[in-house]
Amino acid sequence: MGHIKGYDYELLEEVLRVEDYSTYVKWQDIFKNENKLIVEVGCGNGHFLNSSASEDKTSNFIGIDIKYKRLVRCREKQVKQNNKNVIWVWGEAFITLNNLFKDSSVYMIFMPFPDPWPKRRHHKHRLFKKEFIDLFYKKLVNSGFFIFITDFYDYYEESFSLIKSDKRFELITPDEFQQYDITASYFGEKWRNDNRTFYSFFIRKK
Ligand SMILES: C[S@@+](CC[C@H](N)C(=O)[O-])C[C@H]1O[C@@H](n2cnc3c(N)ncnc32)[C@H](O)[C@@H]1O
Repeated sequence: MGHIKGYDYELLEEVLRVEDYSTYVKWQDIFKNENKLIVEVGCGNGHFLNSSASEDKTSNFIGIDIKYKRLVRCREKQVKQNNKNVIWVWGEAFITLNNLFKDSSVYMIFMPFPDPWPKRRHHKHRLFKKEFIDLFYKKLVNSGFFIFITDFYDYYEESFSLIKSDKRFELITPDEFQQYDITASYFGEKWRNDNRTFYSFFIRKK
């Protein structure tokens, strides 16, 4: 891990790096069970995934983030909470989902508060786009779920307009997900304290 030293290095030793894999990861070998896989794209400081992992021991959780410093925070919480059912990947989300996951293998993908890239000329950097939908469609198991939440109305609107016309998915109600409080992430808490409104959709692969 090159220039990363000391404390961060030790915590990151348990983090997978996308560039180390030329083919998909055998998650069942790593977790030592065949429990369903739940992925958070852009897991930030790992609040949501660590609390989900400690609540739900019957699933395996995988957090992906492009910033290693965020993954250090994820690992700190993991160690503190002694969560054995969560693994972190340091990598770009599209590449990680594409390369490290077998098709039809992921039960649920959460995308809470993706970077909004608010300026119009930066919209092209937004992760949620047609190619990304095609990718997560491929990676989800049949009847697998995808959940999106943002505090940026125009990001929600743009994403929702792509998904609502996509016949490969059906919209579902959030009731099925009471088990997971998807706003209980670092950014969820932060924006809730600012009284921001959240916009979300919950979909299932047909
Ligand atoms: C606004 S934060 C939200 C973090 C977390 N989901 C939450 O709700 O607290 C967005 C996160 O996505 C990560 N991110 C942005 N683009 C990414 C990409 N293309 N691949 C992987 N992670 C990405 C950022 O590093 C950041 O940690």
